[in-house]
Amino acid sequence: MARILITSAIPYINGIKHLGNLVGSQLPADLYARYMRARGNEVMFICATDEHGTPAEIAAQKAGQPVAEYCAQMHQVQAEIARGFRLSFDHFGRSSSPQNYELTQHFAGKLADAGLIAEVSEKQMYSHADGRFLPDRYIEGTCPNCGYDSARGDQCDNCTKQLDPVDLINPHSTISGSTDLEMRETKHLYLRQSALKDDLEKWIDSKKDWPILTTSIAKKWLNDGEGLQDRGITRDLNWGVPVKRGDQDWPGMEGKVFYVWFDAPIEYIAATKEWADAHGRPDADWERWWRTDKGADDVTYVQFMGKDNVPFHTLSFPATIIGSGEPWKLVDYIKSFNYLNYDGGQFSTSRGRGVFMDQALEILPADYWRWWLLSHAPESSDSEFTWENFQTSVNKDLADVLGNFVSRITKFCRSKFGETVPEGGSYGPEEAALIDRLSTGLRAYEANMEAMEVRKAANELRALWAAGNEYLQAAAPWTVFKTDPDRAGAITRLSLNLIRFYAVISQPFIPDAAASMMAAMRTTDDSWPVDVAAALAALPAGHAFAVPEVTFRKISDEEREDWQTRFAGIRT
Ligand code: MF3
Ligand code: ZN
Repeated sequence: MARILITSAIPYINGIKHLGNLVGSQLPADLYARYMRARGNEVMFICATDEHGTPAEIAAQKAGQPVAEYCAQMHQVQAEIARGFRLSFDHFGRSSSPQNYELTQHFAGKLADAGLIAEVSEKQMYSHADGRFLPDRYIEGTCPNCGYDSARGDQCDNCTKQLDPVDLINPHSTISGSTDLEMRETKHLYLRQSALKDDLEKWIDSKKDWPILTTSIAKKWLNDGEGLQDRGITRDLNWGVPVKRGDQDWPGMEGKVFYVWFDAPIEYIAATKEWADAHGRPDADWERWWRTDKGADDVTYVQFMGKDNVPFHTLSFPATIIGSGEPWKLVDYIKSFNYLNYDGGQFSTSRGRGVFMDQALEILPADYWRWWLLSHAPESSDSEFTWENFQTSVNKDLADVLGNFVSRITKFCRSKFGETVPEGGSYGPEEAALIDRLSTGLRAYEANMEAMEVRKAANELRALWAAGNEYLQAAAPWTVFKTDPDRAGAITRLSLNLIRFYAVISQPFIPDAAASMMAAMRTTDDSWPVDVAAALAALPAGHAFAVPEVTFRKISDEEREDWQTRFAGIRT
């Protein structure tokens, strides 16, 4: 039994995520966690909401709520939707937790002790009316390049020119509208990543098995331009982790907070402590996942994320960990994803384009989405959601193949033998051939799940479902029954056992359907079918079962067209 630590990139607190976000980290992480648990491993699966930074402040302001209240509420909303998608986190934490405050300040203190933090004085826009420094997004003015009158401090949305707040004509605060602004000296902390370049490079070079998508992004940032840049890790904001050096005040840093990208990955660790605290467990219970001096040296740590998150996980966060000089667990494998597009364009949170997680669950159960998203995961390249493709996949794979198999054999058995697994002859050459085929297919499925090859694993699973269908179609117990009821009994017995087999192996992809298949077969034996022949004899003759409700329904053309129109525009 291995110990596997799994983290999914933690979603920003501002707003509900779309399906592209879901398939880029949380969903494949859940697939892997479920599979690893099913194989008998000890798993710790962590996610959280990423609650700090300007976007959170702005979203709260728009909602007319204090930011802490807004975050608490949105965390509940995201947690509820995660449950709806059956994301099986051991803990869904919050980066604004006291545990994360403490750990973030702890890491900053250690980095400072190691001489890896530089204090840098720079000039920033200060607003007298607001009594604070303004981050770039809080300053608007006229673009010097194109004359657009709502250009932001960092960029003009009209001509896309990158700007500095000082470039703007008639700059004003977007909080108060005030033009009483002044460039003022302010001090910030920089993490001296450049001093860690050699350590980081050596570490990345040792990761021979990492996907190209991951290492190429890391290498690019390591060696681009002058190489790894030092990184500002503080901001002049109110909302965030207050800058402290361990539990000591940091002279000159009063009223400042750590930059959101500094504290967010530390939340992976803090959320594990939140888990222990929530269950009244001692620190040793979370430390054995994270401290190599306290048992974590035999943990395998896997991270899931979209490709835009890779630099932070291959360079910045490891710099924090390595720089601390303490024995924290570093990631062993990073699984990163490309983007999912939506119906000829991009999903967009800011423009409300595409299907969002709450909307998806309103129209169909989680399993339908899980199956489509995972079987079309954007691994080797970007992929695209279209309603036609979604309808085809659901109707074929789930309804025609798996769902039809389950309903056909249970109904047939009920009508001819009653609702118990029938007696009858022993298994013959057809069954031996099927078992052979299933064994080979299952080994391929397992190998792809181990390797986190999500699409390939889905293809293997689909092929296993199809093999059962083809067997049943060819064996035709409904015909055989007329002349040889014994033989029909054997075919039926094997097929009913296949339902349990499918439930166990499909559970990581479609947990609800798997649970209802198990319930219908009146079994709780979810042991992995290492020996396929033995697994197909698990339910003996005489074992009672029930005909399940419809496992999967089809999507009609009218529904598809209706949804297509409904989700064509902008979310309101
Ligand atoms: N909130 C970020 C995003 O959605 C991900 C943060 S991941 C972590 O892109 F490393 F910060 F945890
Ligand atoms: Zn412009």
